[in-house]
Amino acid sequence: MSETAATNRDALEALWMPFTANRQFKSNPRLLVAAEGMHYVTADGRRIIDGTAGLWCVNAGHGRRRIVEAVQDQVARMDYAPPFQMGHPLEFDLATRLTAILPGDLDHVFFANSGSEAVDTALKMALAWHRLRGEGGRTRLIGRERGYHGVGFGGISVGGIGSNRRTFGPLLPGVDHLPHTHSLEHNAFTRGQPEWGAHLADELERVVALHDASTIAAVIVEPMAGSTGVLIPPKGYLERLRAICDKHGILLIFDEVITGFGRLGGGFAAERFGVVPDMITLAKGLTNGTVPMGAVAVRRKIHDTFMQGPESAVELFHGYTYSGHPLACAAALATLDVYRDESLFERALTMEAEWQEAVHALTGLPNVIDVRNLGLVAGIELAPRPGAPGARAYEVFVRCFETGLLVRVTGDVVALSPPLIIEKGHIDQAMDVLAQALRSVG
Ligand SMILES: Cc1ncc(COP(=O)(O)O)c(C=O)c1O
Repeated sequence: MSETAATNRDALEALWMPFTANRQFKSNPRLLVAAEGMHYVTADGRRIIDGTAGLWCVNAGHGRRRIVEAVQDQVARMDYAPPFQMGHPLEFDLATRLTAILPGDLDHVFFANSGSEAVDTALKMALAWHRLRGEGGRTRLIGRERGYHGVGFGGISVGGIGSNRRTFGPLLPGVDHLPHTHSLEHNAFTRGQPEWGAHLADELERVVALHDASTIAAVIVEPMAGSTGVLIPPKGYLERLRAICDKHGILLIFDEVITGFGRLGGGFAAERFGVVPDMITLAKGLTNGTVPMGAVAVRRKIHDTFMQGPESAVELFHGYTYSGHPLACAAALATLDVYRDESLFERALTMEAEWQEAVHALTGLPNVIDVRNLGLVAGIELAPRPGAPGARAYEVFVRCFETGLLVRVTGDVVALSPPLIIEKGHIDQAMDVLAQALRSVG
């Protein structure tokens, strides 16, 4: 199949691809067949730089032997173990290792298999927690416009990307949204966190006034929004959200599916921004993208509230057949070893200045209306073509792929989030390819 797929359209037909223009893709497929370090290899044998860590997940780079061998060993030793009323040592080890690096008293971890599942788990925990404390009226969930929290019904309900929501019916009831923080007028071409926009957190007070705090369970935000096109939080914004949640007894959930595991420097965005939420959702970099896994970390007070009934009672009626899957745990433990031994959580900070200079050097190229960056992330926003939103950025994406660089586009934003092992030479090469693509697409 792999040899023929690139040339034989019939070989592509049976697969319904996710978040993809299937017919457009199949008329000109882009197939990846191998990966190592900072590079993918395409079906036609070209090496291209991975400018996106796969899909924001391969933080330690591709083909890491230690992770590969850990998964190989584990699948040979024990392929699967049931997670309900049974356990296996690796899942306990992994939870302990995670709580050692998580901020504050986020010291209990629940496993899922994806970011979407982690988000829905966190939302359910928030509702159940309030109910256990006798505040069962707190059922409202507050998300944010342009937020991305995966594709479960919970995630798209609190999410704020119109196209991900509008064809799927009424979604969860009792959800409201804060405004997003993106403003080209005030913040275009900011390096790092923008000065303008902290006041947008005060919109939570408006939502509280409208619905009453006694009806609100939780606020969920991405500390830095990735999938919607890289929105960096304004200085002071997350601090204000935290303070307003505290004032009204509302839980604050950080969706760190993208920002976790070193993407912004430090283990988690919570650390980088100095704001500790009540729950953190994780996935992606948790296993370096090798085996699907998601997780929810919760503060002690949340966990302990659940542990108060009879000891024989199941405390939370929730879980997945593959929660704490042995292969995912083996992959995650080896991944954490790699992050630790190579100091990869610090690397986004050590590379940040160089990265920032390189991406801001794209300023002035055709149609570039904003460049924004933090840690090892950048968003390059392009002016949309009249009547064809997203078309220009898509062409840039195709051109980059053809000339040696994988980027991600969302709307008219080109998003970059390379593996944290990136070196200056890769940055220079990547920016050359992207600059050429921007010039040639026009
Ligand atoms: C912030 C955030 N939450 C949740 C998800 C969903 O994760 P998954 O695709 O693993 O379900 C993503 C995926 O990009 C994400 O960026």
